[in-house]
Amino acid sequence: MGYSTLSNDNDIKVCVIMVGLPARGKSFISQKIIRYLSWLSIKAKCFNVGNYRRDVSGNVPIDAEFFNFDNANGFKLRELAAQNAMKDILDWFEKENGSVAVFDATNSTRERRNWLKDVCEKNAIQPMFLESWCNDYESIVSNAKDIGSTSPDYEDFEPCVAEADFLNRIAQYERFYEPLDAQTDRDMTFVKLVNIVEEVIINKIRTYLESRIVFYVMNIRPKPKCIWLSRHGESIYNVEKKIGGDSSLSERGFQYAKKLRHLVKESAGDVKLTAWTSTLKRTQQTAKYLPYKKLQWKALDELDAGVCDGMTYEEIEKKYPEDFKARDNDKYEYRYRGGESYRDVVIRLEPVIMELERQENVLIITHQAVLRCIYAYFMNVPQEESPWMSIPLHTLIKLEPRAYGTKVTKINANIPAVSTYKEKGTSQVGELSQSSTKLHQLLNDSPLEDKF
Ligand code: SIN
Repeated sequence: MGYSTLSNDNDIKVCVIMVGLPARGKSFISQKIIRYLSWLSIKAKCFNVGNYRRDVSGNVPIDAEFFNFDNANGFKLRELAAQNAMKDILDWFEKENGSVAVFDATNSTRERRNWLKDVCEKNAIQPMFLESWCNDYESIVSNAKDIGSTSPDYEDFEPCVAEADFLNRIAQYERFYEPLDAQTDRDMTFVKLVNIVEEVIINKIRTYLESRIVFYVMNIRPKPKCIWLSRHGESIYNVEKKIGGDSSLSERGFQYAKKLRHLVKESAGDVKLTAWTSTLKRTQQTAKYLPYKKLQWKALDELDAGVCDGMTYEEIEKKYPEDFKARDNDKYEYRYRGGESYRDVVIRLEPVIMELERQENVLIITHQAVLRCIYAYFMNVPQEESPWMSIPLHTLIKLEPRAYGTKVTKINANIPAVSTYKEKGTSQVGELSQSSTKLHQLLNDSPLEDKF
């Protein structure tokens, strides 16, 4: 599906063309845009020209000299890499019906940008330039350090040699860099971020999709932060195997609420944080003992089960057998009669995600389906898998978003609770069997993840 949930411009194709010197967070922003759009079911893909350049450069040494604009061979190979990336973008739009491609490169000269604009326009693709302009020396050096120690270009380099070489590479680009300019580039569609948040210059943004991307990048904050996620403590309805409702916590649920205060303190130390809950009793009771500022969000309420609210899965299977099957067949799209689908929940969570991007440290206490959607955003979990993820009760999850992924730590409170996990094809709730192991692993085996 395209982005019909957001707009009627289904056939619009946008190519976001990054602009900026190395170490200005372009790849970080590119990856975030892709993750955000994919979460909203908008088909999006990033094409990193550095990867294409590594493919075409063979045995040519990649040091700062390679990026000297007077180095004819280096220049030729870099142009070839950009052309190959563009070819793949055109193919992807055509064959895979994509909506948004991100062309992730420095694109530091007007000549290069004009070429990209022409190719896009000839192929009915809207070019949208996104410049990350930054003169914050501290953050540039810190990025350069990071890149020096993680980039495949520097696999065989000592970290300090890599960092120094990368700073020289930046100096090579600086000699020819032409930033976007509101006057000279007035005919271009662009957004220019000055030190990410200091100033945002927007020019000729026309379509709904472009404006969504602009709005999203305007909310990005580069400051490191942590997000803690927890389901409410076990509720009376959980014990009775009923879904929905607004029941209170069980005794074990209250035990978890009391312990949560210590778990969070142990994990967060003295950092300042805000606790967000839904408007339902069970999340507020879970937050009751926390010494933090609290905020209720209606958008964090559990997926609305409509006519099935307050029923057990067994009752639903008996009373609405076709619905029960339809939901198992496509859990993301299935909308309960008079209620919601996972897709509906994602749409209503968008303001929550936007605010999470802006905030520093937040603890969110909410519900199973809602947590699956939030977790899917941070961990890039595909929508056919996210509704089947196991997120157990009485477990605190810590997310640490980083430049190239999110680190996850799960802290088990060791307070027993019923399992509310329901596998495909059964109305029983309970422990995971072999068939769902793969999905369960999704939560346990992400590369940046710590295990229980
Ligand atoms: C690269 O070769 O690493 C990127 C090429 C560019 O953006 O100039």
